[in-house]
Amino acid sequence: MPRKKLIAANWKMYKTPEQTLAFFRDFLPLVSGHRRDEIVVCPPYTDLAAAVEAAKASNVAVGGQNVHWKDEGAFTGEISASMLLALNVTHVIVGHSERRQYFCETDDTVSLRLKAALEAGLTPICCVGEVLEEREAGLTDDVLRRQCVRAFHSVSAKKAAKLVVAYEPVWAIGTGKTATPELAAEAHAVIRREATEIFGEAFASSLRILYGGSVKPENASALMAEEEIDGALVGGASLDPKSFAGIVKY
Ligand code: 13P
Repeated sequence: MPRKKLIAANWKMYKTPEQTLAFFRDFLPLVSGHRRDEIVVCPPYTDLAAAVEAAKASNVAVGGQNVHWKDEGAFTGEISASMLLALNVTHVIVGHSERRQYFCETDDTVSLRLKAALEAGLTPICCVGEVLEEREAGLTDDVLRRQCVRAFHSVSAKKAAKLVVAYEPVWAIGTGKTATPELAAEAHAVIRREATEIFGEAFASSLRILYGGSVKPENASALMAEEEIDGALVGGASLDPKSFAGIVKY
């Protein structure tokens, strides 16, 4: 069965609730009736309630940008899966490279967050990807394999049913340097092979692997034409309704 592509917006630390409502007011009419791909918007936590309300009864789902592994507790600044579910949020990003680079996120904490999301029934978008020095040193495949092995550690194929992986080469994020479709497809194949080792062939062949890193309306169709690329995780170009709609309709 062909994998349904997922086009996700990662707004990072942009937009207020008011700006979120304005985005949905303009964006929803541009993608209404679009069923070919799954569409998800991941705003900051403070915009989630506004986003869920605005996207109600539409073809757009809402996701968080991170989740803690405990259900509640003395963890200042964190939020739990049950808090996301209480807002009718359905997706969540884990292990984004900005969390890894700037906020001490490790392969082990990514794994804990991933497991908590899966346990709760959220659809996790688990990010992996190499930094420039790793690519230049020929270490890309090793890095991707390590990040997958550690993130998926002690997760069963049954539990992982909703898992989505996003390949985001760190050197392509916010830099305007997109990986070529061929280069991205090669990295995706490495991830899929690792998923086959860990979860088995059937699981891996239905696993969606998104590409992220300077995806724009102008390069989306070439990327999406690759059989290995099952969607996109979009930062900067997802902040503008027209530009994100342009990517969704690649
Ligand atoms: P840009 O699309 O701004 O390069 O960001 C990619 C990204 O990090 C999405 O999670």
